[in-house]
Amino acid sequence: MQTIIEPFRIKSVEPIYFNTAAERKIILEKAFYNPFLIHSNDVLIDLLTDSGTSAMSSNQWAGIMQGDESYAGSPSFFRFEKTIQDITGMPIVIPTHQGRAAEKILFSILGGPGKYIVSNTLFDTTRANIEFSGAAGVDLICEAGKHPTIPAPFKGNMDVDALEKFIAEKGAANIPLCMITVTNNSGGGQPVSMQNIKDVKKICSANNIPLFIDACRFAENAWFIKLREAGYANKPVPEIVRELFSYADGCTMSAKKDAFANIGGFLAMHNEALAKQCRNLLIMTEGFPTYGGLAGRDLEAIAIGLTEVMDEHYLQYRIRSIEYLTNKLIAAGVPVMQPAGGHAVYLVADEFLPHIRVDQYPGQALVGALYEHGGIRSVEIGSLMFGKYNEDGKLIPAALELVRLAIPRRVYTQSHIDYVAEVIIEVFNKRDAIKGLTIIEEAPTLRHFTAKLKPVASAIATNETETPKQFSSISIQ
Ligand code: F0G
Repeated sequence: MQTIIEPFRIKSVEPIYFNTAAERKIILEKAFYNPFLIHSNDVLIDLLTDSGTSAMSSNQWAGIMQGDESYAGSPSFFRFEKTIQDITGMPIVIPTHQGRAAEKILFSILGGPGKYIVSNTLFDTTRANIEFSGAAGVDLICEAGKHPTIPAPFKGNMDVDALEKFIAEKGAANIPLCMITVTNNSGGGQPVSMQNIKDVKKICSANNIPLFIDACRFAENAWFIKLREAGYANKPVPEIVRELFSYADGCTMSAKKDAFANIGGFLAMHNEALAKQCRNLLIMTEGFPTYGGLAGRDLEAIAIGLTEVMDEHYLQYRIRSIEYLTNKLIAAGVPVMQPAGGHAVYLVADEFLPHIRVDQYPGQALVGALYEHGGIRSVEIGSLMFGKYNEDGKLIPAALELVRLAIPRRVYTQSHIDYVAEVIIEVFNKRDAIKGLTIIEEAPTLRHFTAKLKPVASAIATNETETPKQFSSISIQ
């Protein structure tokens, strides 16, 4: 087969600032081993997130100039609204400044104490907004999704038996919403099958529970359906997307992902009564319903991006580039989530660093090692992000200890990705020298964004809880 090439040419470039491993060791120490506290000019390849980091197309930049900044009734809004109506089949479109603003509005209305929001896997901000309302977020991921290194086609699926059981146990009246995240970001960017969405919808309908899609990566998910699910190989992506949304009562979306926009989001739905409540909150917190926290120019960029993302040459290149990096790592014996996900490569940190105890955060230690060794910024999706404490202050670990290398859309070339593979493999070959971390400061919610950490004294697993006097970082040269 011929090489799948990047389906774009580059018109404008940004510099990468180079630094040395010795400099990065100090930067990491000063950032308290938290990648969110590192300045982006100190990063060579930034794989912290695929959110808001896309390269916009020349068409999107042209749209930026076309943006109409009228407070009310801007034509940019009507283009945005029509695009989303066409893609989702949902008549009501409410713009927000990003995905979590849509979540905040939705769960302020539907959440509350005693309520349960069920999902395949909730993203961290989604879970936080649910919990902030007093409700509980419940992840019911299918069995295949619990085994990171065993390949299966649709590891993002919801466990439908567990869903039925949960509804029977807690009562449908206490479950105001079911939310399916496509692709399943916290579960490895793994896709959800059309069949699974249909099955979940059937159960939800029988119990009068609305189904919403967290649609951040809807086009990537649709591409996986086209590749892997019987009956979809010859269907155009927009048709698959339309079918996927047809089973949902509504959706939330961060336009910072599959809309190639640097900011933005929306809520879309069928239910006018719910939309009325959402708009009331929107006006208080985001803005008037025809701009909702966005500039007219952002609405234009999003509308154009949402159409561009369904281009099959783009999706083929996108999904293949993630698979390319994953396969290089598998060939070198590095434990990675399999098969490759849609937007990121996920290292299985507890298998990569089996000598580091889960309460010494192997994922975060690996994030630090990749930065120090090669200037690559990644993010832990494990017990730092999702861990909780029991009554005795002991860590209740997350289900998986992953490190995510999210690939920004249309930003890096194949040689960048080759470099990333080299760095990971070099770190893997010297993994025994990497030390675990302890937390010295943390916030009560979403602690991973601001937590401060320091290395434990020894790379070998001990029960040490003593604070080491000197910071000693990983030294892999
Ligand atoms: N849902 C999912 C599945 C997400 O991945 C994100 C963001 C959100 C909701 C929230 O959207 O950032 O626009 O408020 N994910 C980013 C990430 C931050 O790095 O995965 P937002």
